[in-house]
Amino acid sequence: MICRILLLISLTSCVSGTFVVKVTQTSYQAEENHNITLEWMFTTKPDSSSTSLNIYCELFTRHNVSVLYHVHKGVEVPESQDEHFAGRVHSDKDALREGRIRLHVSRLRTHDSGLYLCAVGTNDGLSSGRCRLNVTGKIIQ
Ligand SMILES: *[C@@H]1O[C@H](CO)[C@@H](O)[C@H](O)[C@H]1NC(C)=O
Ligand SMILES: *[C@@H]1O[C@H](CO)[C@@H](O)[C@H](O)[C@H]1NC(C)=O
Ligand SMILES: *[C@@H]1O[C@H](CO)[C@@H](O)[C@H](O)[C@H]1NC(C)=O
Repeated sequence: MICRILLLISLTSCVSGTFVVKVTQTSYQAEENHNITLEWMFTTKPDSSSTSLNIYCELFTRHNVSVLYHVHKGVEVPESQDEHFAGRVHSDKDALREGRIRLHVSRLRTHDSGLYLCAVGTNDGLSSGRCRLNVTGKIIQ
């Protein structure tokens, strides 16, 4: 039993050791109508082909799960995007080649608040990273 647990630990640490997704910031704070850039970083190798890249980024709120960014085999799939984010998410394609997912979200709404999770899969493995965004509304006086 202990052997099996140890094997499992060494296997998972081995897998996560080769391919990881990290966030540059675990928490973001912003105001309504402002813009923000959310960033994730994933392991890339010089020989890794972009056609093996799959990305799925979603917003989790108390009531909803909304897709904001989807890349399938290296190609963006705008059809997957939830209408909540339509026309408001711009990805930096140069950064993507270097293993950085930079999502510029404009005209923030309070409903954009929540947990953002990006799952990334390449030939090297599968992993995910998460961060929180808190958008506060303007106080009308
Ligand atoms: C849930 O998502 C749908 C579709 O994007 C949207 O119309 C609705 O307002 C969302 N609900 C909440 C509570 O954010
Ligand atoms: C937000 O982004 C939009 C387009 O992405 C730009 O036109 C606008 O000037 C930006 N606003 C701020 C406050 O940076
Ligand atoms: C969001 O930001 C507001 C204003 O700074 C703060 O009062 C509130 O506690 C924050 N909410 C979360 C969930 O961090």
